[in-house]
Amino acid sequence: VENRVTRVVDASAVNAIVTTTGLDRLYDLAIDRLNAMLVEYTRGTVDLKERDGFVLSAPHDGLLEWMPAIRRGSTVSVKMVGYNPHNPLTYRLPTILSTLYVFDAATGHLRSVIDGTFATALRTGAASAIASRILARPGARTVGLIGCGAQAVTQLHALSRVFDVNEVLVSDLDATSEKTFARRSRFPADRVRVASPAEVERHADIICTATSVAPGAGPVLSGDNLRPGVHINSVGSDMPGKCELPRSLLRQAVVCPDHPAQAAREGECQQLDPEEIGPSLFDLVQSPALADPLREVLTVYDSTGLALQDLAMAELFEDLAVAYEVGHELVIETNAGDPQDPYAFLADAQPDRVDEPRNAYA
Ligand SMILES: NC(=O)c1ccc[n+]([C@@H]2O[C@H](COP(=O)([O-])OP(=O)(O)OC[C@H]3O[C@@H](n4cnc5c(N)ncnc54)[C@H](O)[C@@H]3O)[C@@H](O)[C@H]2O)c1
Repeated sequence: VENRVTRVVDASAVNAIVTTTGLDRLYDLAIDRLNAMLVEYTRGTVDLKERDGFVLSAPHDGLLEWMPAIRRGSTVSVKMVGYNPHNPLTYRLPTILSTLYVFDAATGHLRSVIDGTFATALRTGAASAIASRILARPGARTVGLIGCGAQAVTQLHALSRVFDVNEVLVSDLDATSEKTFARRSRFPADRVRVASPAEVERHADIICTATSVAPGAGPVLSGDNLRPGVHINSVGSDMPGKCELPRSLLRQAVVCPDHPAQAAREGECQQLDPEEIGPSLFDLVQSPALADPLREVLTVYDSTGLALQDLAMAELFEDLAVAYEVGHELVIETNAGDPQDPYAFLADAQPDRVDEPRNAYA
């Protein structure tokens, strides 16, 4: 029966998972799983397909994308993700809305359906924490956030698991986003300060840009006032034409993409020639010595978001949902009974035929 049931990990199940695990420990688990995924990709046990999607212009500009990945021999995950920056104001919905579909690679059975909105925010923060642990100065204390929406919250939380963050500077075009950030982030309010982009540049040891800047409308900071050796996680440049950092800054920096081909199409690397692009996060995890000289220089993690990260989250949430026995079990597939009877689910179907497997040589 197990291979007929789909586990639905809905909002209440995610609530139970977060409450039981604790947010801090969940970030630690996510960081570990993403790190493992980077190693496994270079070994070939996991793989991903290029993401694709629909570019939407009506009723608003937006995107609906699918992001497929596989753990060979066991699991295929597909994340459907909408990017609709008008959502918060128009519908009071998140800009990023997403669902994870998890299939048994051996049979095609839909094993789980999992909320992807929280998982996306969690893994996007965790990915920046991994990159920052490798590329930023270990003593980094001040975090600057340009764009303080949903992703900024998880950028800060994940960074605070890896660095001793004691001051946060936030900057957004929207004053409400700035004002509500401390509450939303659950970070001590007396350590969060609203600042201009130039102030963020002057004070931050690590900067995350996580804006919904429109394609062609960037950059979101000038790069003229940066501290030496600062590390920048560029999170919002993740579609053609959408860039957050000036080319002049990128040319002075070592730019490390999450996925070189995808970043060249959708990330900050769009602005660079191939020979100007630095080692990828895969390279850095595989050969840690590459990173040693990078901690003291200007570095950029060009984060476009990987289907592998979504596979890691699908597996993590599946494991926790099973361990805590949360979620709902639904029979979605109409495969009850005879596998060669497409009507087997109907009331008039004959009871299950349990034949011995045929052996042609018997
Ligand atoms: N790299 C990844 O893996 C990944 C994953 C998820 C989301 N994203 C991207 O992260 C970005 C933020 O997503 P979100 O869910 O936080 O969206 P959000 O709508 O919650 O927040 C975006 C914020 O950016 C602000 N903003 C827009 N233009 C700005 C500018 N020029 N300067 C300063 N602030 C500006 C908006 O006012 C808003 O508060 C999006 O671009 C999204 O595509 C990337």
